[in-house]
Amino acid sequence: MKITLFVVLAISTVFAGVPSPEETKRLMDHLSDQEHFRNEHHNKQFDHDAFLGEDQAKTFDQLPPEESKRRLGIIVDKIDSDNDGFVTLVELKDWIRYTQKRYIEEDVERHWKQHNPENNDILPWEEYRKNVYGFMDEMDERELKTPNSEGFTYSNLLKRDRRRWHYADGDQDDALNRTEFGYFLHPEDHSGMRDVVVLETMEDIDKDNDGKVSLEEYIGDMYKPEDVDEEEEPDWVKQEREQFTGYRDTNKDGFMDETEVKDWIAPPEFDHAEAEARHLVFEADGDADEKLTKAEVLDKYDLFVGSQATDFGEALARHDEF
Ligand SMILES: *[C@@H]1O[C@H](CO)[C@@H](O)[C@H](O)[C@H]1NC(C)=O
Repeated sequence: MKITLFVVLAISTVFAGVPSPEETKRLMDHLSDQEHFRNEHHNKQFDHDAFLGEDQAKTFDQLPPEESKRRLGIIVDKIDSDNDGFVTLVELKDWIRYTQKRYIEEDVERHWKQHNPENNDILPWEEYRKNVYGFMDEMDERELKTPNSEGFTYSNLLKRDRRRWHYADGDQDDALNRTEFGYFLHPEDHSGMRDVVVLETMEDIDKDNDGKVSLEEYIGDMYKPEDVDEEEEPDWVKQEREQFTGYRDTNKDGFMDETEVKDWIAPPEFDHAEAEARHLVFEADGDADEKLTKAEVLDKYDLFVGSQATDFGEALARHDEF
């Protein structure tokens, strides 16, 4: 399903010239990758609970299809805020914004409590560092400097967190209050953090560290053929190549530099919720009247449960709503 979704989105990207929801989502996943990475090693259960809801043992995938559809139907009723039987673009956009905000709020609250159990006004860097990276104090210096070792990976995460911390620390007291901590945890959601988001993305994609993104690096970040010799490149990858050459590389030097990466992942005024809502309406609107009936949504069940309209399916597993 994920592949299908990706293909569908990649196709819609060609016409847009702005990041598709999928790209923005990818970026967000990208950013939370390191978080997941950390949590996987330190606090797997925590992550798990966060996603499923603490006492919710079932994942969405484990729900019988009939039950998930029933839940999706309930969500559709909620999105249709004026109860006229149609989900409009605006209603869908508002809903997506609402679930995004709720997700981020809950995420920040959870992490804030975890790192600051005494609920002080501010969290000093040193306390955060000890909590998350303290185990590195026991590690051998050499291990931390050996490329591709686990220690090396952690050193890089630490450096990255340190830098991001500075960006989030508005009054530069080397401690974050809850608001600043929200910037730190979800930089993709705050325009003031745009520069560091661009830096981090560059570093992730620019494998040869020459400070710019080549076409191969751009493609390599989103597509890894299973078998290099046999696989013919899927169409969406070809389209991404054209996208790179035609739109992303505006000065046509064969690379994306920092400015071009910035325009790609974080164009000013880009409304992620609206883009996602437009995409969903476009895909699901069988009769092209620019609004969706419940039947149209249920018909495209796969599309919706993989979308932020349901918090990537998470909302379907939330028990407080059903
Ligand atoms: C948090 O810090 C920022 C400055 O970096 C400040 O603008 C904001 O008012 C602070 N919030 C609280 C609740 O103290």
